[in-house]
Amino acid sequence: MASSADDERMKMLKAFDETKAGVKGLMDSGLLKIPNIFVRPSEELAQESLLTYKNTTQIQVPVIDLSDIQINDDKRKQIVEQVRIASETWGFFQVVNHGIPLTVVDGMIDGVRKFNDQDVVEKKKYYSRDIKRRVRFNSSYDLFTSTTASWKDTLTISFSGPAHPTHPEELPPPCRELAMEYSKHVEILGNSMLGLLSEALGLKTDHLENMECSEGHRLHCNYYPACPEPQLAIGITNHSDAGFLTILLQNQIVTGLQVLHQGQWVDIQPIPGALVINIGDLLQLVSNGKFRSNEHRATTSHIGPRISVACFLSGPLNGDMNKIYGPIEELISEENPRVYRNVLLSEYVAKFLSTSMDKYRALDYYKL
Ligand code: OGA
Ligand code: NI
Repeated sequence: MASSADDERMKMLKAFDETKAGVKGLMDSGLLKIPNIFVRPSEELAQESLLTYKNTTQIQVPVIDLSDIQINDDKRKQIVEQVRIASETWGFFQVVNHGIPLTVVDGMIDGVRKFNDQDVVEKKKYYSRDIKRRVRFNSSYDLFTSTTASWKDTLTISFSGPAHPTHPEELPPPCRELAMEYSKHVEILGNSMLGLLSEALGLKTDHLENMECSEGHRLHCNYYPACPEPQLAIGITNHSDAGFLTILLQNQIVTGLQVLHQGQWVDIQPIPGALVINIGDLLQLVSNGKFRSNEHRATTSHIGPRISVACFLSGPLNGDMNKIYGPIEELISEENPRVYRNVLLSEYVAKFLSTSMDKYRALDYYKL
């Protein structure tokens, strides 16, 4: 039976959700303390104070320079090797010289800022939890199921495959052209990364693309307002990404993204113009555990806003939901037996959406 504390929490969550103004709306009302729904449980905070941070200047996820991947075979081989090592160990790396112009990258961040800076009346038009809506704005998809509400607001834009293109008119005017342009570029980079990752698995370059890993993509435009009590809140709780691959663009100045490395949180330092790439659960699964979908989170800060745009390649999400994914046959042998069951995409997505990211990890469910 739900306790009165649970009832009280649910009431507060509903009241917050009904403002449709997100966390920025709260901050704009001149808040000095964060509401209880954003305070992490005391056990979690106690645990946190025991963790020592790695000296972040000494330890960093690999930075891979993608120049010349299309024209120089030797260079490509070296890059594939770097991608393989990073994907097997950290599950995270940053890429530079990735081909997306700086104007497009900066434009995307700027568009997200402009969207969030608008009058609440404009933002409310997009406020929704209906996953069928390709463009929706809310604080987080798992607000009602998570242990702690996330200190962020997110605009989600789904781009499905060529059969059902997303039209510019569906997007909010302040970021319309900028997001369309970014989407076009990030799709090309996504396929190029899938090519490198396929080769890193010893497969033909187009193997992962042919599996429709990049059939659609989804942009999560995250806006983390400055937080008056950052030590008590969390931007995004500890999680791994559910899809195949994530390409994350973060703002140039404020740090926030951290990855778990040998039991400790390591900051992913923003590098101007760089993009963060990380392996998702589905790629760990189809690679039969060779690549690692690593846990990460985003902290909050007195300084803000911090803006990030995560592009998720999650398969044909608006297409063939009856598609089945399992460990790639070529990667299975007597020495490397299958470690995951097959996944029916529709079931996978339904499971993911039925709970919160702090309570569910797809990989645990599908492990043999
Ligand atoms: C995510 C994520 C981190 C960030 O959206 O899945 O991990 O820095 N975001 O915003
Ligand atoms: Ni993530």
